[in-house]
This record gives sequence, structure tokens and C-alpha cells, in this order.
Amino acid sequence: MDFELKTLDAAGAATEKCDVLVVLVTEGFRPGKDAVSQLVAAALAAGHLEAKPGKLLQAYRTEGVTAPRVILAGAGDGSGKKVQAAIHAAAGAVRSSGAKRMAILLPAGSGDDAVRAAVCGMAESSYVYIATKSKPEGRELKRVVVGVAQAGVHKAAFGRAKAAAVGIEFARELGNLPPNYATPTRLGEEAQKLAKAHGFRCEVMGPKEVAKIGMGSFMSVAKGSAEPLRFIVLRYEGAGKSDAPTVLVGKGITFDTGGVSIKPSAEMDEMKFDMGGAASVLGTFRALAELKPKMNIVGLIPSCENTLDGAAYKPGDVLTSLSGQTIEVLNTDAEGRLILCDALTYAERFKPRVVIDIATLTGACVVALGGVRSGLFATDDELAGQLIAAGEAALDPCWRLPLDDEYAEGLKTNFADVANVAGRAGGAVVAAKFLQRFTQAYPWAHLDIAGTAWKGGAAKSSTGRPVGLLLEYIWAQGAPAERKAPAAGKSRARAAAV
Ligand code: BES
Ligand code: MN
Ligand code: ZN
Repeated sequence: MDFELKTLDAAGAATEKCDVLVVLVTEGFRPGKDAVSQLVAAALAAGHLEAKPGKLLQAYRTEGVTAPRVILAGAGDGSGKKVQAAIHAAAGAVRSSGAKRMAILLPAGSGDDAVRAAVCGMAESSYVYIATKSKPEGRELKRVVVGVAQAGVHKAAFGRAKAAAVGIEFARELGNLPPNYATPTRLGEEAQKLAKAHGFRCEVMGPKEVAKIGMGSFMSVAKGSAEPLRFIVLRYEGAGKSDAPTVLVGKGITFDTGGVSIKPSAEMDEMKFDMGGAASVLGTFRALAELKPKMNIVGLIPSCENTLDGAAYKPGDVLTSLSGQTIEVLNTDAEGRLILCDALTYAERFKPRVVIDIATLTGACVVALGGVRSGLFATDDELAGQLIAAGEAALDPCWRLPLDDEYAEGLKTNFADVANVAGRAGGAVVAAKFLQRFTQAYPWAHLDIAGTAWKGGAAKSSTGRPVGLLLEYIWAQGAPAERKAPAAGKSRARAAAV
């Protein structure tokens, strides 16, 4: 979809050539003399329209308005969140109407947050999955004009919003692909394609290379599958060699049956989304190609299936991780932490500024936070604060959960350095405590996106989260000179207490 930012007032919107004009109406709406303003004023006065987000009024062939269809949409106080809700409602009304060109008139006085919400909200609501349909239907909307009082003021925010929309869509598309399409091999190919198209460095390793490195934990998870594993290393270089990179690590389980500790059948298909972390790293890189920030970013993706045959790993097996720590497998369904731990150790070789892993890690996180906020864990308060702020700004929020050492008690075992599961209590924290053992060399954050990476039910679809959060974080880090690295020493001291 093409977005265009344009200087428009209500009078300009009235003569804008498009199939449907969406007018966002805020609480402080002040009418002018043009046809659009008069329409809004009359509707408000008659009580047929309210400025509340979600409220809509549609008009057809209105005198003085070029667009045949006009949708008036309440947008509350005009904040990003309210504009997003208004856009979702309006997009719902336009869906399958055949409209190809849309114009959105943002309220006078709109900020960058409203511009972002309009672009990302419209991209999100008009996304239609077609990759494995025999008839590619539903992607009618081609062009969206976003009208603001002064286009020049919002140009930078508009560019970032478009980049985010592209990255989010890329992640969604990969996330939605069926598991017989989105195999570890396919993820590797997608990374290579991205690298070729946008000039990233990319290395895709297979079973032999990964064995040679010594990723014994990751390799064990892949043993029961006919699909060969892949370990993807993507590098974006926007700053000098001496600038320590931000490393993003994404869980790439392309299907999670649970392995020998097999999952129940109900909704097991949704475990194709278990590569949502990997998809979010690839989506973030897709957007980096547009944003071109002055920093270095490394993407690491351990990818395999967690399934079972005679060669599959089993409860009781003891694995030797890349870090040298031995791990007793007590549940083969706690596989995400087993592939991530080796990637987190591998991350050390980049001497990172910070490492952030993103994973659909625990059902317990879904119980704790539902589908609204991702779970955030961090060994560094400054990094945690930056990620929380980025999530709020991007309308892709997260919530910090604790890392007290007492949560790791249940991981003790007589047969290895650590077990891969403890009891059910505090499961999201226990998983994070397991990962923390492998992150002592750098400031670290972990995003558990088990509840936010996709939606189930009738609206079943990947969400592309947390690409918005990650891009906002990256952007807020700024150029190398002005960047403040979280104090590595401080966080090392804290991590040593594990
Ligand atoms: N991929 C799942 C986590 C998950 C479950 C995400 C449901 C979204 C919805 C993960 O690999 C897993 O199976 N975790 C187990 C861990 C348990 C065995 C300690 C879980 O959460 O049940
Ligand atoms: Mn699992
Ligand atoms: Zn999993």
C-alpha cells in the first residue's frame, strides 16, 4: 500500500479525489465554512455523531464533497491511541467495499503520534493474508493520503511510520505462513533475500556448522525433525566498526508440537506462530533498510522444528550448551529456552552494547498479561526504561516482570547444572531466570511475546509485534555520539548474583 502525506484542511479534503474520505473528529472540533466541516458540525449538533473513538457516521454523495463516500470517525482527544481506534473502526467500515483510494483528514493540531497511528493503524487493519489462497482477493486499498495541517512538520515521523508499517507487514506475512512453508530453510532464504536486496551481511548456518560451534542445546531440540535447523546471523552496519552493536535474538521454532512431552491437539496449529520472535527480527531488519539509523545491529535467529521421531530428544536427557553449562531436559516442550541459550552465548562474540531476545516463550506469560502487553525482563534498569518508553510510544506496550533469584530455585537438579523447567508457578519468570544464566557478559532484556505475537479465534493472524516497539527503541538510541550505553559493569555485577 502507498501512503502519501499531504497538507490538507477540511476545505482541501472536500475536493480531494479519492473513493472514500475519512474525517477524524476530535472533542474540540471547530467547524469552518467548507462542506466537510458543515457536515461534521450538523452531525454533532443532531447527536448523530459523537467524538468518541469507535463512533462512525457514513455519508454518500454529499454536496460539495468530491469523494463519493465520507466516513466521519470520532477520535476522542486526538492522541495516538484514540486515532488508532478511530482508524480501526473506519477501516472496518471500508473493508470489501472495493475502495482503492482513501484520504484521511487528521484533526487540526494533530501530533506525530497521530500521524504514526493513522499510517500504522490503516496498514494493520487493511492487511489481508493471500499467500496460500488460490484466489488472491481482498487487497483492494492501494493508496492512502494522510492529510495534516502542515505536511512538512510531520515528514520525519511519517517516514518512520511507513518504515514500521513495512517491517510489521513483513513479520506478519512470515508469521502467518503455514509451517510447511515457513520452515527453518525458508527463514534462512528470507534472510538471504533481505540481505541481498538491502546490503546487509548475512550468514545462514546448517546442522554441520552449528555442531562445529558446539551449540549442543540447540541441536538437541532439532533432532526429532526431518527439517534441518538453521542459525541465521544478519548484520546491519550503520556506524563504524568500533561502535558496539545492539543484538536482537529471535526464537525461530517453526512448529512446536511439544516433542515427546507432546502438546494437546486443540489449537496446536497455532504453534506455527512459535517463530514470531524470529519474524520480528526479520521484520525489524526489513524496516532498517528504510530507516538507515547510524548504529550497528546484529540479528541472531536459531530456527528449527520441535517435533518427534525415534531420534528426538527426551525427558531426562542432559545437554551440553555452548556456554559449557549442562542442562537436564525435564520437559521437551520447554524448547524455546534451549535454542535461545546457545544463541545468547553466541551473542557474546559481538561484544554487544545490549542484547534483546524476543520469544513466544511461555503460556504462563499469556496467563499473566493476556494479549495486551508483552512481558519484559531486564538485567539493566536503563534498558528496561527505554524499552517500556518505546512500547508506549509505538502503541506496542510491554510490562516489566521480576527476576528475583528465588524464582530460579526450582531449576536445581541432581544431574546437571540446571534443569529446563521448574513447577508451574511463575512460569514466565522461571523461563527468564533460565535464560539469564547465559547473559552475564552484557546488559540483557527479554521480551516474552507469547500473548502478543498473534491473535487466535476468528481473527487468527500474526500481529507483527513487537516490531513497532523494537524500531522505536532503535530510533530513540540516536546517532553513536549521543548514545549512552547502559553501564555494562553495573549489570554484570547484578547478573553475577544468579
Ligand atoms: N511455544 C510455547 C509457549 C506458548 C504456549 C506460546 C502457548 C503461546 C501459547 C513454549 O515452547 C512452551 O511450550 N512452553 C511451555 C513451557 C512449560 C513446559 C514449562 C508452556 O508454556 O507450557
Ligand atoms: Mn514448547
Ligand atoms: Zn515453543
